[in-house]
Amino acid sequence: MKKILINFAHPAKSRSSVNKALRNAVVGLEGVTVNDLYQTYPDFMIDVEREKKLCEEHDVIIFQHPLYWYSTPSIVKEWFDLVLEHDWAYGSKGTALEGKLFFQVISTGADGDSYQKEGFNEFTLTELSAPFRATAKLCKLVWLPPFAITGVHGGLPSAEILRHGENYQRTIIALRDERVDIEQAKRLELLNIDLNQLIGSE
Ligand SMILES: Cc1cc2nc3c(=O)[nH]c(=O)nc-3n(C[C@H](O)[C@H](O)[C@H](O)COP(=O)(O)O)c2cc1C
Repeated sequence: MKKILINFAHPAKSRSSVNKALRNAVVGLEGVTVNDLYQTYPDFMIDVEREKKLCEEHDVIIFQHPLYWYSTPSIVKEWFDLVLEHDWAYGSKGTALEGKLFFQVISTGADGDSYQKEGFNEFTLTELSAPFRATAKLCKLVWLPPFAITGVHGGLPSAEILRHGENYQRTIIALRDERVDIEQAKRLELLNIDLNQLIGSE
């Protein structure tokens, strides 16, 4: 069984609809740790040793966050700047993260069609996750495409939010139980584009 770390980053959790629902769908699952960055570090004073230990203890490292300015809420950047130390995460002696799976769970205000070359935002979410992908490569992590929920500003019906939560839970459990074909997952545009294709028999 793989151990899964979800680094959750939402600066206004009480006003969240999607990220709160997704988080509720996975919190308490066996083998899953939800690490709430804004709750733990309201002053941004990240405990680097604690974060490194958490990474070392898990096999899958996820960052779950709303898309902010085509990127992440700022504490995620702070986390990267402080935690990914030379000779720990990268460099000739930096092998702490080698082989662990790594991906983002992203919600967006704008709808999915706008995140296309021909759409308003011109870049796909997978393209926008390029700094994560490059970081993963440097740190010898295995990068997977983002799990994305789009169009939140349009007001997602509660049944749809519930369905996304169920899909998230299904994905997390399948990763934990090693039922995901990782080579196939790497090639997907988004991790949750077709869960039946991603996840083998349950
Ligand atoms: C500071 C800020 C920046 C944002 N930037 C983007 C953005 O670049 N693209 C986008 O589609 N939505 C953007 N949004 C909208 C959020 O992504 C959206 O409100 C969030 O995904 C909804 O999830 P929640 O219900 O969990 O809060 C932004 C929101 C805020 C507050």
